[in-house]
Amino acid sequence: MTVPMLELKNVRAGYGAINVLWDVSLSAARGQLTTIIGPNGAGKTTLLRAIMGLVPVSQGSIALAGAPLSSKHTWDMADLSVAMIPEGRMVFRDMSVEENLTMGAFPKAHRAHLATRLEEAYLMFPRLRERRKQLAGSLSGGEAQMLAMARGLMSDPALLIIDEPSLGLAPLVVNELFEILARLKDGKRTLILVEQNTERAVAVADHVYLMQSGKVALSQPANEVDLGRLHELYFAR
Ligand SMILES: Nc1ncnc2c1ncn2[C@@H]1O[C@H](COP(=O)(O)OP(=O)(O)O)[C@@H](O)[C@H]1O
Ligand SMILES: [Mg+2]
Repeated sequence: MTVPMLELKNVRAGYGAINVLWDVSLSAARGQLTTIIGPNGAGKTTLLRAIMGLVPVSQGSIALAGAPLSSKHTWDMADLSVAMIPEGRMVFRDMSVEENLTMGAFPKAHRAHLATRLEEAYLMFPRLRERRKQLAGSLSGGEAQMLAMARGLMSDPALLIIDEPSLGLAPLVVNELFEILARLKDGKRTLILVEQNTERAVAVADHVYLMQSGKVALSQPANEVDLGRLHELYFAR
């Protein structure tokens, strides 16, 4: 059996006295796209924060390529080749598109590859090339999301974690976004995608987890998912 890129075993985590995740076990296979779907407040973002070391894990374990993450800090994640693109398309509004991308390659080890990575980013996101001198604060919502994703890719992470990229975007932009996600599945990179757009997420994923009230309510290979059943579970209270 091959070791998963990421594996959570019986993880409990939360914010001080408020526990959010209850015995969450989940794994992301190397080179695959694993999606975590679930309604608002299910604990999806908290789960990503636990992986990144941003909320403490009170029970259970998280391992990256078989090695425990318990002694690692958020600032170690870049060196471990893990990048997260948080929800809310955070970009540096007063910097140009290209400056934002350059920030994504800030760690010393990546600076040597800056020109190559910029070129790759512009090939993947042609609109960003057109806008490269523009201030990020002047981009549309869709463009800002593309920029946030491109910046996350600038360190060429082995594991890329993306939190609700399609939230609040117009349908045409959502189409474009999912096309890009499909292209990011190059067989080498491991992707974890948190989404509320259930059908699109299942369509692009290899494996699907449904979270409900801080627990895993379903874990299934994407091609075995019955969308009707999934929606029932999704809306179950
Ligand atoms: N900083 C925080 N402090 C306390 N509770 C929080 C905090 N952030 C989120 N929560 C609570 O944790 C639960 C899960 O939230 P979250 O992980 O953001 O869910 P999702 O991303 O699935 O919408 C919610 O009940 C939310 O109110
Ligand atoms: Mg969230």
